[in-house]
Amino acid sequence: MKKELRRAVIAGNWKMNMTPSEASAAVEKTAELTAGKDGCDVILCVPFIDIPAAVEAAKGTNVKIGAQNVHFEEKGAYTGEISAKMLLEAGVEYVIIGHSERRQYFGETDTTVNLRTKAALAAGLKVILCLGEVKDERVNGITNEIVSMQTKLDLLGVSAEDMKNVIIAYEPVWAIGTGLTATPEQADETCGVIRAALAEIYGKELAEATTIQYGGSMNNANAAELLAKVNVDGGLIGGASLVPEKFDEIVTAAQAD
Ligand code: 13P
Repeated sequence: MKKELRRAVIAGNWKMNMTPSEASAAVEKTAELTAGKDGCDVILCVPFIDIPAAVEAAKGTNVKIGAQNVHFEEKGAYTGEISAKMLLEAGVEYVIIGHSERRQYFGETDTTVNLRTKAALAAGLKVILCLGEVKDERVNGITNEIVSMQTKLDLLGVSAEDMKNVIIAYEPVWAIGTGLTATPEQADETCGVIRAALAEIYGKELAEATTIQYGGSMNNANAAELLAKVNVDGGLIGGASLVPEKFDEIVTAAQAD
């Protein structure tokens, strides 16, 4: 296991929180607090409407801005959707795809996640691809099969070259917004299973070089022990990313690894 081969990435997923003016202030504060902490990349994934304010506030700082979804068609009659080209022109660098809330509430499937991933990469966006098991799957002992299958289906047709622009976020659904966190051992083991699936598709070298984050109630109190695990290369943080001081503590914890 070669953790030193991988870039640590701490990303916030604001979900449906923050108005544009609030976004501007929160990005500025986050940038101020995390300035110079270059042991990891720092990303904030904001609602579409907040993108211009967030991009403006992040200019010249270490904070990179991401979106929370992207459509797979280039343009056309897709009411309410946003294309990769629109995001890029607005200054977005990253996009979250396949978040469990999209899968759970908005009918996303591995097929649409795969289409969105390929479209985003083809356009030049970097992708944070989310996957993870639900509680019943963990209880019934099929977590490894589920995350391996999601990894393979979501990345179907994605080239090894494009994988340089893919971060995987392992987010056990039962740990999201619940206050329940996977133990560091569970997070490490399942991120390792995802890495093994990547090795099956792309070979060991690429698998060892791919950043795999953990997400699900990661916060300033538990980040250090999760991030210390060899297969956990960063975090995708929901609730705690809304408070710059808490998010900064997670960024600080990532400097040590
Ligand atoms: P919480 O950190 O609020 O559990 O959310 C995790 C998440 O879904 C990040 O994408």
